[in-house]
Amino acid sequence: MVRGARAPAPAPSSPRMKATPVPESASTPDVPVIDEPTITAAVDDALAAISAASGTAELKQVRIAHVGDAGVLSRANRAIKDLPKDQKAAAGKLVGQGKGRVQKALAARQAELAAAEEEAALAAETVDVTLPTDRRPRGAAHPLTTLQDRISDIFIGMGWEIAEGPEIEAEWFNFDALNFDIDHPARQMQDTFYVAPEGSGQVLRTHTSPVQARVLLERGVPLYIGCPGTVFRTDELDATHTPVFNQVEGLAIDKDLTMANLVGTLDSIARALFGGEPVTRLRPSYFPFTEPSAEMDFRCFSCGARQGTDHDADPACRVCSGTGWIEMGGCGMVNPAVLRAVGVDPEEYQGFAFGLGIERILMLRNGVADMHDMVEGDVRFSQHYGTEI
Ligand code: PHE
Repeated sequence: MVRGARAPAPAPSSPRMKATPVPESASTPDVPVIDEPTITAAVDDALAAISAASGTAELKQVRIAHVGDAGVLSRANRAIKDLPKDQKAAAGKLVGQGKGRVQKALAARQAELAAAEEEAALAAETVDVTLPTDRRPRGAAHPLTTLQDRISDIFIGMGWEIAEGPEIEAEWFNFDALNFDIDHPARQMQDTFYVAPEGSGQVLRTHTSPVQARVLLERGVPLYIGCPGTVFRTDELDATHTPVFNQVEGLAIDKDLTMANLVGTLDSIARALFGGEPVTRLRPSYFPFTEPSAEMDFRCFSCGARQGTDHDADPACRVCSGTGWIEMGGCGMVNPAVLRAVGVDPEEYQGFAFGLGIERILMLRNGVADMHDMVEGDVRFSQHYGTEI
């Protein structure tokens, strides 16, 4: 038996003690017995604690307890120098090998536990990049709304004002003030939605022209207004018709306005909407509230015809069907009867009015082939146009 130079180990710091951390403050730890059973037991204890450690944090405590300064093996190692010369080599080998085995086991277990911990962390922190980032459905402005705003901007750019009126309208504004006869066909039940009960005197407005009469009464003359809004007619829904659609009305009342001003205004709206060298063509027509009245056509903006009337249209053009012209709506000089109905003296003031269909502009300008897409409310249709059209 090899004894340390100092006192033999008492119970508390016995080499068989369990792997509990020894306080650093243990100032003069007892010297353990340096013999094979003691060292082997210390090594076995250490190895058992190492393999029992379930994580790197626990393993750190095991390391401190078994190979730290206060551990049996370290204390034994320090005691070798005080042994008789002839015992040093054997003791050194015994302790060195034991400590070596423990260090090796610690390193292996450390690698094993660190790898397991990293794997667990990666699994816990996994991000599924295919999951949607925002589960709330997103809406989008309808392209008709956006286009309506754009058209309003064109009016504002010309120095005009925007005016709106009600969708449920008095028959008087929708028809009478606009010089419709009491037996005008547009008043028939098959064209107009009447509001119950019968004789209510109210309709779903069939056009935006009643806004003309309202605003003339409200604001007086001179007046330059654009009136965008929804209108209603008893049409069946098909690829080019819908019972609910949108118009924008233009009305200018001032002294000395003529049809030349009307054409110039239409030309600048056509240019703002479609670009190119606009040419407006008027064809004789009839509306009760304008005199003379006309249908207005814009030169096709899509095919060769856009370069002017001396250039031919493409016979296969899908926008103008090879005619070179696109029908845009009705217009004319405001009928003196309308001005009188709202208290304006037609001898002093004249003006012009026009009505454009917004759905039609969207179809032509943005290539929408079927009206159904505009009314079905599929958000993908709106999203396709983004925030600007
Ligand atoms: N209100 C007419 C329509 O809906 C269009 C129009 C407006 C015609 C202004 C002449 C003047 O068809």
